[in-house]
Amino acid sequence: MDQAAELRLSKEPVTPMPDAGHRVRVVSITSGKGGVGKTNIVVNLAYALTLQGKRVMILDADVGLANVDILLGLTPKYTIQHLLSGEKRLSDILVKGPGGMFVLPASSGVQELAELTREQRLQLLTAFETLDEKLDVLIIDTGAGISSNVMYFNVAAHEVIVVVSPEPTSITDAYALMKVMSLRYAEHHFSLLVNGVKSREDADEVFKKLSMVAERFLNISITYLGHIPHDNHVKKAVRRQKIVMEYFPNAPVSMAFRELAKEFSKTKARLNSNHGNVKFFWRQLLERKNA
Ligand SMILES: Nc1ncnc2c1ncn2[C@@H]1O[C@H](COP(=O)(O)OP(=O)(O)OP(=O)(O)O)[C@@H](O)[C@H]1O
Ligand SMILES: [Mg+2]
Repeated sequence: MDQAAELRLSKEPVTPMPDAGHRVRVVSITSGKGGVGKTNIVVNLAYALTLQGKRVMILDADVGLANVDILLGLTPKYTIQHLLSGEKRLSDILVKGPGGMFVLPASSGVQELAELTREQRLQLLTAFETLDEKLDVLIIDTGAGISSNVMYFNVAAHEVIVVVSPEPTSITDAYALMKVMSLRYAEHHFSLLVNGVKSREDADEVFKKLSMVAERFLNISITYLGHIPHDNHVKKAVRRQKIVMEYFPNAPVSMAFRELAKEFSKTKARLNSNHGNVKFFWRQLLERKNA
């Protein structure tokens, strides 16, 4: 990463920390309600960031269906489970996707992450730490809701992007998610992305509604990351197992993803000194018994 990018990503005030070393921005993409477009956002944001020259890895942490590989048309042979059992090395389970992004298929092994022996934990940490110099951004696709599996990743990430659709239930569930995260896990900052809207005005309204109640009744702040329009090109691309940005680069939704990536790169990761690097993320993740 060049020095300017390094500065952009370092925490405020914008001064380089002498011992900060390389910094990987770890972001989880989550939602209260399921089916609001998280996985689609994860793969497109990842792809858009690779177009900016960033080195990106997706951690597919949805314990339900492993959707990232399906959306990308990849068929990973192994998952993190094989790493945990010692059958495979990290390099064996990583899959390369469009734009040179990496995918770490975790889903079926996510449950086990919370129940590792000390030895397994150390093994994994050592493996993951080799990724430090190879990445700029790590994007985690979580499941929906407030289960401990989801929280586990949200709490360990540097920043949490909450995806919400304009449906009332999605908005109330997003509120519930932020409430639990702030009360139970002391997470007081979120980014919000509104997906599947007809117009910018609709998205702005969702943001206003949510941020007004959340900032009033919960002690949190929300950064508005923007919106992604509803666009039928998404379904067409999904059917072909292609990233919509790659398959329909000029579709409205693809332009919105490019904007999102720009906005994302502009906003600084809210790294607190404890969350400084990706090693810390893995440590948090692996040493937490259960969130
Ligand atoms: N902007 C959009 N325009 C049109 N369709 C969309 C858009 N975003 C997502 N979709 C469609 O909505 C459905 C759900 O998307 P996706 O699988 O990304 O949601 P999710 O939040 O990851 O779901 P889950 O909670 O089950 O993991 C998919 O069929 C996808 O094609
Ligand atoms: Mg999903």
